[in-house]
Parts: sequence; structure tokens; C-alpha cells
Amino acid sequence: MKLLDLYAKMKGELNGIERQLEAAVADDDSLLGESSLHLLQAGGKRIRPVFVLLAGRFGEYRLEELQRVAVSLELIHSASLVHDDVIDNARTRRGQPTVGAKWDNRIAMYTGDFIYAKALGLMTEAREPELHRILARAMVQMCIGEMEQVRDFFHTEQSVRNYLRRIRRKTALLIAISCEMGAVAAGADRWTSSLLYRFGYNTGMAFQIRDDLLDLLGTEKQIGKPPGSDIRQGNMTLPVLLALQEQDRREPLLHEIRAIRESEGRADTHAAIQLIRGSRGVATAEQMAETFTAKALSALAGLPDLPAKKNLTDIAHFINKRSY
Ligand code: IPE
Ligand code: IPE
Ligand code: MG
Ligand code: MG
Repeated sequence: MKLLDLYAKMKGELNGIERQLEAAVADDDSLLGESSLHLLQAGGKRIRPVFVLLAGRFGEYRLEELQRVAVSLELIHSASLVHDDVIDNARTRRGQPTVGAKWDNRIAMYTGDFIYAKALGLMTEAREPELHRILARAMVQMCIGEMEQVRDFFHTEQSVRNYLRRIRRKTALLIAISCEMGAVAAGADRWTSSLLYRFGYNTGMAFQIRDDLLDLLGTEKQIGKPPGSDIRQGNMTLPVLLALQEQDRREPLLHEIRAIRESEGRADTHAAIQLIRGSRGVATAEQMAETFTAKALSALAGLPDLPAKKNLTDIAHFINKRSY
């Protein structure tokens, strides 16, 4: 099933979100407005706004309040991507040139800051103080996660635990709070919002494991950027760490990773990718994504049987198998 089919029932609300996303950054015709729009108009799965809206169904559905939170979180996600692409030296995202490639990295840094500021400006209209606390805490953790990634580039001896802690911060938390904030904005009780947080957290872990697998297994058309970007950059993702644990692969893989490091990203990554693809690491990583998905679904089990629950279930299954 396609993601758009899963969003079908929310079409009207999501169109509203698209309009608000554009309006949020395009209120002046500065270069920053233009560079921000460039990324937003390239599309994206909009998974975080969808989670906000669906989580809001478990409380008193107040569309305006929920849309504000949804737009704000998508902007925060977008800003983090602009900065991430500077750090990763990425030239393409969502099938389009990155802000750094189309303009330059200085403009990209301020574009990211500009989008963050617009997100926070929008959030000032949210009255519930808890929303601001949740958001501020998660943003701090995201920064720490991205810093950990930079610190751990090319660290072939890091543990799987280390990887999991990093992706928890850099990805899973924002998805977790999308669900949680949707529930809080709708005035749901604590029990409900904590179950939705757990759903989002575990889905978010599966989401990033899938992202890391896709970078090794996907095609450029599927992922909107050249595959192999992670290893070229020195990002030691789960399948790499697992492949390094295999006796017969460890030495040849270490050799390839060293060559990539020494060439500062210019070496051919083909041999390394083949070694990882041929390892048991791929199946084990898939299994781990599966386990996180199962945990996400078990959190949902405690919620009432609303249509939104079925929707969340379908999206979690989609993420677990996603190819884009
Ligand atoms: C990309 O997120 C960054 C990760 C956390 C893996 P998405 O895969 O949600 O990116 P878009 O918004 O759909 O482009
Ligand atoms: C996710 O990590 C980026 C953020 C959480 C900001 P990735 O580096 O894997 O994301 P992609 O692959 O560039 O989309
Ligand atoms: Mg990246
Ligand atoms: Mg990635």
C-alpha cells in the first residue's frame, strides 16, 4: 500500500497543512523565504504532521490547534534536514538539490535557523505550557544526537547500543513527541499521551533503521539521493556495525572503510556496500526494525478502538517495510 492511500481520509486537513507550511516561511520575499520554500515544496512524507493529527483523535479534536502543532513540528524536522545536509555534505534531498548545493552552506545554515524560528513563532500561539516543555527538551536531544553522529563518524568499534542511543535522540524522539503533542494539544489524559509517545518512539526507531537500510539497499529514485551516502560520510549505521561483527567480513570491510576515510569520501563505496549487503547484518537489522514495530503496536493496544488506531497501525506497518 502507498502512503498516500493511508492518508486518504485526511486529505483536506493535509492540504491545509501544506498551505500553512508555505505561508509560515513565505511571509516575506527574502532569499531565506525562497530557500526555505525550495525544500518544503520538494515534498516529503509529512509523517510527523500525520501523527499529530491522528494522535489528536484520541482527545477533543481541535483542528486549528492541532494543525499549528503539526506545521510547527514539520518545520522543525525540515530545519533539521537543512542543517543535516550541511554536516553530511549532501547534494540532493527529496530528488532536488539541497539548499547548500543550490545556494551555499552559509545560506543553508541561516535557512535552517530561519525555519526553526518560524516554527517557534507559530508555537507561541499554543496555550498549553506542557507543549513548549516537551518541544524544548526534544530539540536539545536532537542536537545532542546529531553531535554524537559527527563524533562517531568512522568509529568502527562503537556498539549497537551506541547506535541505538544516537538514533533515539536524532530521530525517534521527534516522532514520539509528534504523537504525544497531538494528544496533549487535544487535551487527552496522561495515560493516552504516554501510550501515543511509546507508539511514536518505537515507530521512530524502526523508521531510522529502515532509513539506514535504504541508504544501503535502495535506489536513487526511491530515496531521492545517491545511495551509500552514509558510509561515504563515515556514518556507521546498524547494518555496518553488525557486518563488522562477522568473522569473515570484518577485515575486508575495515579495509574498505579505511580507504573511504583516507580518500575523504571520494573512494568507491561499491565494495563496502557489497560486503554489507552480503552480510547477515541486513536481516538482523530488519529483524530489529520488526521488533520496534511490534512494540509500537503493543502500545496502541491500550488505546480505544477508534478509526485513527487502525490508521496508526497501517502506517507503522508501512514504515517497517518502507522503500522510500
Ligand atoms: C529523513 O526523514 C530524516 C530521518 C529522520 C531519517 P524523512 O524520511 O521523514 O524525510 P521526508 O520528510 O520524508 O523527506
Ligand atoms: C536523520 O539522519 C537526520 C536528522 C534527524 C536531522 P540521516 O542523516 O540519516 O537523514 P537523511 O538520510 O540525510 O535523510
Ligand atoms: Mg543525512
Ligand atoms: Mg539517512
